Amino acid sequence: MTGVARISISLPPELLKEFDELVKKLGFERSQAVQRAMRNFITDYRWLEKAEGDVAGAIVVVYSHEKHGVEEELTDIQHHYLEYVKSALHIHLDEEHCMLIIAVKGPASEVRTLAEKLLSTEGVLQSRVTVISVKG
Ligand code: NI
Repeated sequence: MTGVARISISLPPELLKEFDELVKKLGFERSQAVQRAMRNFITDYRWLEKAEGDVAGAIVVVYSHEKHGVEEELTDIQHHYLEYVKSALHIHLDEEHCMLIIAVKGPASEVRTLAEKLLSTEGVLQSRVTVISVKG
């Protein structure tokens, strides 16, 4: 594929403001910065997709506890993967936001599905998955 694709996206105004301020400060064009963010996103998740055997690490999500149902959903998902969720740490970041650090260990395919479910939960604002391969 050649040329450029143009997309239109919806996002909260305060997120765009913060993004644009940082983009300007770093001397990027907005399109360049979005491309970099997309590449980072792909790199982060493709690795897990390709991992085989057992992995161990942390799934980190930031969410607003004021948004109805997010907390319950995140808890439900963890209960479905009891065998692979080793520990969870809840940090109250500020009045509105919470961070959940979930320590996981298990087959890559299971950890991947667990991560995908947690990350795609509506109301999750930021996420990071850091896992390493371990002997199965
Ligand atoms: Ni909290």
